[in-house]
Parts: sequence; C-alpha cells; structure tokens
Amino acid sequence: MRRALELAARGIGQVSPSPLVGCVIASRDGDIVGEGFYLYEQLRHAETIALEHAGELARGATAYISLEPHSHHGRTPPCTETLIRAGIARVVASIEDPNPLVSGKGFADLRAAGVEVQTGTLEREAARLNEAYVHSLRNARPFVHLKLASSLDGKIATRTGDSRWITGEESRARVHELRHLYDAILIGAGTAIADDPLLTDRSGKPRRRQLLRVVLDQKLCLSPESQLGKTARDYPTLVFASESADDSAASALAKRGVEVLRDASGGRNLESVLRELGARSIQSVLIEGGAHVAGAFLDSRLVDKVSFFIAPVIIGGRDAPASIGGLGAEKIADTINLQDIEVNRHGRDIEVTGYILQG
Ligand SMILES: NC(=O)c1ccc[n+]([C@@H]2O[C@H](COP(=O)([O-])OP(=O)(O)OC[C@H]3O[C@@H](n4cnc5c(N)ncnc54)[C@H](OP(=O)(O)O)[C@@H]3O)[C@@H](O)[C@H]2O)c1
Repeated sequence: MRRALELAARGIGQVSPSPLVGCVIASRDGDIVGEGFYLYEQLRHAETIALEHAGELARGATAYISLEPHSHHGRTPPCTETLIRAGIARVVASIEDPNPLVSGKGFADLRAAGVEVQTGTLEREAARLNEAYVHSLRNARPFVHLKLASSLDGKIATRTGDSRWITGEESRARVHELRHLYDAILIGAGTAIADDPLLTDRSGKPRRRQLLRVVLDQKLCLSPESQLGKTARDYPTLVFASESADDSAASALAKRGVEVLRDASGGRNLESVLRELGARSIQSVLIEGGAHVAGAFLDSRLVDKVSFFIAPVIIGGRDAPASIGGLGAEKIADTINLQDIEVNRHGRDIEVTGYILQG
C-alpha cells in the first residue's frame, strides 16, 4: 500500500478535481506484477493501467488501491468491473471514496462478485494525500490552507510596510511546492497593492490546470498595471469586488483579462467566496495573506490547515502589523488550536504546519 500511495502522489498537480489514486497488483507469491497511477488527461484509471501490466498474472492476485474503486459509468467504465473481469481475488483499499456516486458501492459490488475486500490499510496517510478531494466532497466547499511568513515576534511587515523578504530562499522555494498542491491562491487588496505579487506556481512541476489567482478587493484598487493585471491573459485572475466599485476600474482590469465578480458583500462573505470557487471545481485554496484576510478567514472558522514560516529575526515596533488581524479570541479558552503538528526547518527558518482543531 505504501507503494500504491507513492504512485498516487505522482499525479499531484495533474488530477484535480479528481482524486489521486495509485494501484499495485501483487501475485499470489507476493511479487509486484502491475503498477499504475491516475492522471486526469490520460483518462485510464490506476487499476486499469496496473491490470494491463499484470496481464494473466492478475488472476487470483491482490490489488492494493489507495482509494475505493468506482462502480459507476463516468468518464471511464467502472473499475470494479475491470477488477472482477481480470480475476482479482482480493482488494486491499485505504479509504472509502466520499464521492456519493461511489461511496461504499465500489466495495459492495466487489464483495457481491466474491472478491475479498479489506479496507483501512494506511488510512491516515491515504486521507492526507487526498485531503483536498475528501474535504471538498464532505463539506461542499474547498479545502483552505493559510500560509504566512512572520518574524519571531509574529510580525508580517515592518512599521513602514516593508515585508520582502522576512524568510529566506529555502522557505520561499517551499512555498512554490505548496502552491503546486493547490487549485487557487487568494490574497487581500492590501497585499496586492503593498507587494505587487505575481502569485504563480514556480515549482517547475507540471500542472493540469493553471493556478487561479484570487483577490478580495471591494473597491477595485488593483491596478491594471500590477503584475497580476499585466499577466492575467496568461494566468487566470479573479477579483471579488462590491457592486458599487468603479466601472472604469472594472473595465480597465477586464481589458487586461482579469475577471471581475461583483457581489453585494464585495468578497466580505467568505462562505460565498468559497462557494463560488467550489462551483468552478476549485477543490483547494492557499491563502497567502495579508493580516486582514487571514484574520477574517480564521474568525469565520473557514481555515482547515495553517503553515507559519517563522524567520529568526525580530522586527519589533508597536505599529508593525502582526500576522493575524480580524477580531481574534476573547479568551484563551476560545483560541484556535492545532493538531497533527509538523515542524520543519528551511535554512534558518522554521515551518510549523498543523490542522485546525474544529469545534
Ligand atoms: N509575511 C507575509 O506572509 C505576508 C503575506 C501577505 C502580506 N504581507 C504584508 O501584509 C501587509 C498587508 O496586509 P493587510 O492586512 O493590509 O492586507 P490584506 O489582508 O491582504 O488586505 C486587506 C484588505 O483586503 C480587503 N478585504 C477583503 N476581504 C476582507 C475581509 N473579509 N476582511 C478584511 N479585509 C478584507 C480589504 O480591502 P477592501 O475593503 O478594499 O476590499 C482590506 O483592506 C503588507 O505589508 C504585506 O507586505 C505579508
């Protein structure tokens, strides 16, 4: 199963909005006779590819699959039928597919055909690998990961607004790896103006869909001459603005290829922002600040995972902005807690990543 998960991970950046899937066929003697993983564009599922490799050796063999095989006719015929036809005797799967078209039905069809089914192997690792897919289907909204870089004293810029660069080159390279995992990247108008970022995935790895760049900019302050504006024909860019935002600003941005979406809340209703992104098959969003937007998402309890990159520098100053704005907690008992925390070093910086403990 570890090998199946490794194979599944080769599809990162190339499967969304489908799940990452890897499959290994092990013969009755325990030899690996087939391997496969899923890529959206190649259409064929991991199981089909692995079974083709295995050929006749699939008869009586075990299929290790990182996700429940699907049992319905979608873009491809049901994988359960392919496994049954190939003579697979046993299926070992990590997790159930939360897709309501599949959930539990894949396993039931296999069992009904006399295939032995075992589930839950490396369940945690498999759920992590597909966390965006699983989350977006279970909660009907994209998975939200907040990433921030701060000084040791929790500042994201100096009192004059200078923020480049707090963290080192190694952390910034890691951020491109992170961007590669996400379907969209989101910032507030303050960051768009102060930093004039490009917000592209420069990991150098292939991706099926361009990273969607999203700016919450009620008054349409984003300049058409900004990096985002100038590159909007090459990299999709969506701005949430209020209904009363200036028409000429909207048309100047639209001429550059920026999509301006007006709504009554001007992007302040974060649930509806996420709903809109979900409707565009965006499964996962990386929020890259600044403090106001990070605070608003945390206050609304719409963040699932956080990564803080902390540099061993002290910015100081009462007027230097802290990494999280918004309302924040009233009492220590109300603070947001993390679980499953990982701590990594990138050069001189420390990355603390964890999942928000809901409830
Ligand atoms: N170190 C880091 O990781 C990092 C990351 C990003 C930014 N920064 C720094 O942070 C500073 C910018 O921070 P910031 O807090 O001013 O910027 P921000 O959060 O990016 O933008 C604030 C603006 O976003 C808009 N907005 C949209 N939805 C909002 C909501 N729900 N709640 C509040 N505001 C919302 C508001 O403008 P409208 O009213 O016009 O919509 C608000 O003025 C800059 O100095 C930048 O360099 C640092």
